[in-house]
Amino acid sequence: MGPTSYRDVRLITMAITVLSNVSETRAHLNTARKEKPGNVVLVPTMGALHEGHAQLVRQARELAGDEGTVVVSIFVNPTQFGPNEDLDRYPRALERDTEVCQACGADLIFAPASAEVYTPDHSLDVRETVLSTGLCGASRVGHFPGVCLVVLKLLNIVQPTHAVFGKKDYQQLAVIRRMVRNLNVPIEIVGGETVREEDGLAMSSRNANLSEAERQAAPGIQAALQAGRERWEKQPDIAPGLLVRLVRSRLEQISSGQIDYLELVDGETLQSVQGIIDKPVVMASAMFFSKARLIDNIEFGPKA
Ligand code: PAJ
Repeated sequence: MGPTSYRDVRLITMAITVLSNVSETRAHLNTARKEKPGNVVLVPTMGALHEGHAQLVRQARELAGDEGTVVVSIFVNPTQFGPNEDLDRYPRALERDTEVCQACGADLIFAPASAEVYTPDHSLDVRETVLSTGLCGASRVGHFPGVCLVVLKLLNIVQPTHAVFGKKDYQQLAVIRRMVRNLNVPIEIVGGETVREEDGLAMSSRNANLSEAERQAAPGIQAALQAGRERWEKQPDIAPGLLVRLVRSRLEQISSGQIDYLELVDGETLQSVQGIIDKPVVMASAMFFSKARLIDNIEFGPKA
């Protein structure tokens, strides 16, 4: 059977490049920029790619067009993991990840070793001090400084025109938007919608760490958040505190999990919503299971 679209032709005729060295990556991209003058779009990941990542890579391909370049970075960043977190258990699957990236139209994978990213003289901190303190930042101290540090390094190495981040990690997207704005980094940050399993569970490499019973129960997180949004749709003047209590009681029915946090926050400032819901808001939650901590969120409220 012959190729069915231009993209298929491109995939057959062009192989993906995988590089692990910073100067080689820079040189490769300098040449690519001369040959293809379009957007350079970066998708930062930690690998073990699933359909959620794949969707971001396809979105990046759309943004780059045929005249642009799509770069996927794959790096399990040690500085964003706490001492008791799952750095050592984090799955690594470069070969399969390469196939996924190629199938989604990426041109280049940058997959450095830790020593390539963090030189021994490394002594810099990148700390956002407002958006990153609540929600996941409250229970994962040091996480967002690690994320900001590595993302800023990746943006400087690749020098893309755009970078794509998923809304599943809503706080991460907000913190990175703020970092780029505050530091005048000349890059557009683009959000991608959360990709879910058929039963509503947000895709995550950490879902593999759930027991069978936990996996059955975990879609209850999104179901509870959706029930919250539906309640607001029926009663737009509902008090935020009452809405959070209603959703919390649904989350408490997930007996195999334990709530880390559930909050209703302003979609941009991430500050707790008081009074009435008169702006776009996000209800965000994290739950602990025996070997995984899962996060999810839902957006609602009057449009900005
Ligand atoms: P990682 O967890 O690998 O996620 C990479 C990107 O994929 C992030 O932007 C994340 O929001 C997005 N993503 C994950 N699951 C998704 C889903 N189900 N639907 C849509 N997008 C999804 O987030 C990180 O890596 C790291 O913190 C990183 C930004 C790479 C810095 O190290």
